[in-house]
This record gives sequence, C-alpha cells and structure tokens, in this order.
Amino acid sequence: MRTDYMIPALMAASLLLTACGGAVSDAPDEPAGPAVPAPTLDELPAPYNAASLEAGQALFGNKCSACHYIDNRKDHKVGPTLHGMFERGPGKAPGYPTYSAAVKGLGGDTWDTAVLGQWLANPRAFLPGSNMFFNGLTDETQRRDLIAYLMVQSRK
Ligand code: HEC
Repeated sequence: MRTDYMIPALMAASLLLTACGGAVSDAPDEPAGPAVPAPTLDELPAPYNAASLEAGQALFGNKCSACHYIDNRKDHKVGPTLHGMFERGPGKAPGYPTYSAAVKGLGGDTWDTAVLGQWLANPRAFLPGSNMFFNGLTDETQRRDLIAYLMVQSRK
C-alpha cells in the first residue's frame, strides 16, 4: 500500500504549516485567525485602557455568550462569532447566513467602538431592524469594560 509512505510526508507538511503560524487553512467558511496581535489593556485607547477586563469578561459571560463565541476558530451561535470583529466591520463574519439589512447597512471595514457603544446601550432605538434581541447595557462603565474585553479577546 502506497498510502503507508504518504503519512510521514503529510505529517511533515502539517508540521511545516504549524511552524509558519497563522494561515493553517484557507477554508472560506472558517473564522479567520487574528489579523492583529491582541493588545494589552495599556495599549487600548482611552477610555478603554482604564477598563476592568475581568468585569468585561464576566459581562460577556452573562449577557453575550449565550448567542456569541469570541474565541478564535469557534463558529457561530445564534449570533455571529465576534472573533476578529473589529478588523472586518459590521455584517461580515464569514459564513454567518442571517445578518439583517440593518447591521449590514452600518457599513465600513472596521467596527467602530463608538457605534458599538451606542448600539449596546440601546439596541432597539439605535438599530431597530436588527435581529439581535438584547435589552441594552445602560451603565457606561459596564459598556467600557465590555468593549475593552471585546477589543482584546476578539484578537486572541
Ligand atoms: C439573544 C441572542 C443575542 C445576545 C444575547 C447578544 N447578541 Fe449580539 N447578535 C445576535 C444576533 C442574532 C446578531 C446578528 C444581528 C443582525 O444581523 O441584525 C448579533 C450581532 C452582533 C454584533 C455584530 C457582529 C458583526 O459581525 O457585525 C455584535 C458586535 C454583537 N452582536 C455583540 C453583542 C454583545 C457584545 C452582546 C452582549 C452584550 C450581544 N451581542 C448579545 C444575537 C445576540
């Protein structure tokens, strides 16, 4: 059987790919790997550099994770994966089939943190046509903590 000889070659090829880092697969439906390195808290712009990432993580767990993954290489839940969201802009997660016209209509090649903050504060008023059924996060400090967490974790 010739296939016996192919296995070491395949293993060597995949080791090489791993060693190169990034670009392990070009499959179009997979969420892309990080386009930029994850920033540290200090590297975030104000006011996010004063945030609590722990508080943001807890908020994400309580209020967002039922509908969203944020970690690399996880796919979509009811909502699109948020991994890489800031690098691709609204309505552009690869393979997410059911974006509303409202989210797509936001446009742009990056997710703007100010726009995101306004949306999360009052989703229904800011973007009435969205499919995201979330009541809103009225506390400004909580929004800062959550968005800072998104800015770091979506790039890991
Ligand atoms: C009940 C499910 C649900 C919850 C809870 C939820 N989302 Fe969503 N989210 C969605 C859906 C569905 C969409 C797609 C909306 C659309 O296309 O109108 C979405 C879209 C988004 C987008 C746009 C993504 C993109 O690719 O442009 C962001 C950002 C987002 N949500 C962040 C959050 C955050 C942060 C929280 C927690 C505070 C949260 N969501 C809570 C379901 C949810």
